[in-house]
Amino acid sequence: MASHTQPETSLPALFLQRMASWLGPEFGPFVEALTAPSDIGLRVNTLKISPHEFEGRSPFPLRPVPWCPEGFVVTDPEARPGTHPYHEAGLYYLQDPSAMAAGVLLNPQPGEWVLDLCAAPGGKTTHLAARMENRGVLVANEIHPRRVLALAKNLDRLGVTCALVLNESPGRLAARWEGLFDRVLVDAPCSGEGMFMRDPDAIRYWSPKAVEGCARRQRAILESAAALVRPGGYLLYATCTFAPEENEGVMGQFLRAHPEFDVVDVASHPAFDAGHPEWVAEGEPQLTRAVRLWPHRGPGHGHFYALLSRTGGAEPSRPRLYSIPRPPGRVRALFEAFCRETLVEPFPEKGLMLYRGLL
Ligand SMILES: C[S@@+](CC[C@H](N)C(=O)[O-])C[C@H]1O[C@@H](n2cnc3c(N)ncnc32)[C@H](O)[C@@H]1O
Repeated sequence: MASHTQPETSLPALFLQRMASWLGPEFGPFVEALTAPSDIGLRVNTLKISPHEFEGRSPFPLRPVPWCPEGFVVTDPEARPGTHPYHEAGLYYLQDPSAMAAGVLLNPQPGEWVLDLCAAPGGKTTHLAARMENRGVLVANEIHPRRVLALAKNLDRLGVTCALVLNESPGRLAARWEGLFDRVLVDAPCSGEGMFMRDPDAIRYWSPKAVEGCARRQRAILESAAALVRPGGYLLYATCTFAPEENEGVMGQFLRAHPEFDVVDVASHPAFDAGHPEWVAEGEPQLTRAVRLWPHRGPGHGHFYALLSRTGGAEPSRPRLYSIPRPPGRVRALFEAFCRETLVEPFPEKGLMLYRGLL
């Protein structure tokens, strides 16, 4: 094991030893960044306002997140963007900058069928919805009932209308919706090493055994996720931990069991590191195309991402979407006259529907 001096921290000694052995000369800057106060990440909700317009009226000083055009770091550490009325109005979501890369890398398109399998509290789901411009089908699933409420609340606050919120196990979804989705996100429950300074429980429960337990659960979730991706579709695997067992290890085993998936070479940002298959016994060489975001190389607490594409197989047969009946012209004309007389801003045309004879 390399002998890099270990700084004084409350981090588990074994965690530090492991990281020192992999990071070599980068270990010191890594620990310094991991234990420094977190960056406040703010992602503008493009369903409500453009990044440019928000920058013009932002009450906080902002610096761009290099890999996400709608992402910023709030540079005043005293700012409290979570208590501002703009937050309540859904103009932005407070999200770690490294987590913002998920929406960028998965790159969902308007009109597609997209599944976020581990969605609560909705940081990445709300980003996917914004990138989809609220068009298509976004299934936001969360297995823990209590966390579903936070997810639904965030979707509502940010004005997401294309999402269906579910409280299911990945296995039940896979049995029902095989090969249905254009893009699937697995933001897996993990040992959360990137969250050590924000979540003391992550430190308390950390051990090599816990890391192995997380890897087992991630493998099970991925088995279901694989079945849900349509041929030609994409699967993005994400964690907020540095443990290679949960990243290159889980991915390496998955790729060997699923030759129908390949790792996509994502257009990489200079601040991104490549995956490190050499850090685990199960490493697959193509995992150098995965990406690692480190806290000492850019803003945020760090993430691992592998974008996989699925080849072969039959196209999905999708249920027909119910289309909302438009009100008859006479009713619309009356409503428009009412709006002109009463409202300050025009009523959004696509918000009008007839339900049981009522507008
Ligand atoms: C990293 S968090 C997701 C964070 C979320 N994507 C976001 O950006 O706000 C992982 C989620 O997986 C859920 N989870 C835990 N065990 C699971 C399992 N066996 N299958 C599916 N999801 C699980 C957790 O409840 C948690 O909400």
